[in-house]
Amino acid sequence: MEDRSGQAGRYGFLLLSRRKSSHFQGRCPHLIPWRRGKTLGERKLTIAIDGPAASGKSTLAMRLAQHLGYLYFDTGVMYRAVTLAALQRGLDLQDPIALARLAEQAQIDVRPPSQDDGRASDILLDGQDVTWEIRSPEVEANVSIVAAIPGVRQALTAQQRRIAQRGNVVMVGRDIGTVVMPDADLKIYLDASVEERARRRFEELRARGGHETYKSILAGMRKRDEIDSQRAIAPLKPAEDAIILNSDGLDAQTVLDKTLLLVGQATNAG
Ligand code: DC
Repeated sequence: MEDRSGQAGRYGFLLLSRRKSSHFQGRCPHLIPWRRGKTLGERKLTIAIDGPAASGKSTLAMRLAQHLGYLYFDTGVMYRAVTLAALQRGLDLQDPIALARLAEQAQIDVRPPSQDDGRASDILLDGQDVTWEIRSPEVEANVSIVAAIPGVRQALTAQQRRIAQRGNVVMVGRDIGTVVMPDADLKIYLDASVEERARRRFEELRARGGHETYKSILAGMRKRDEIDSQRAIAPLKPAEDAIILNSDGLDAQTVLDKTLLLVGQATNAG
């Protein structure tokens, strides 16, 4: 195992070299060196993938990063970790100053998966494994509120930009193409109907033993969409130069194939 990046500001990202790590081979989406470098050369692309919850962004980004040997980075986990920290500390979610301070101070680490329980990575908050806690209904219900706070966004955006500067990255979120990486080489906005997204999330949760109903997931998703797309700062919307893909009725492989064509075009355009 090789630590390629060490700490990125207050956030640590342990990146793996596939060649040097047999333990995580084929499972770690974080940083896998060129396997198909001959087709893409040494050009360091930055790829932004935005879209609403459960549109398939993370699956696409993870598979794309693995295919290209890029770093996969899901910025949503940062907002979720800050929300969890605020709930654990009993902070008032209406107190923007306290939440911004928390976002600046919380130590969030994203590491290769230590367990084979369906996780894409380990998410550590101040040293504690919170991989599944950040997916709890309580976090789900409050994360949009925390993510709308300007000071929280400022703190997390600064960290995300630092990671983006390295290039060779597929970054996922809501404002990656519009705010975090406005100069990204390729911007994809992955959409899907709210019903399809709620159905995916319902099946995902059920597979993990969750008991939430489809109806409540659908209602929660509508609410989050509304908050995410109507907030004053960095709202969810496609960048003007984003390519909009709709994943309704498409399987993950088809979405990946379409995206790889776009990556090829972006590489040739550079
Ligand atoms: O992608 P996700 O469901 O894990 O995102 C969790 C929340 O964080 C969601 O309400 C939107 C917000 N978010 C954001 O505002 N900006 C990002 N770049 C990523 C996520």
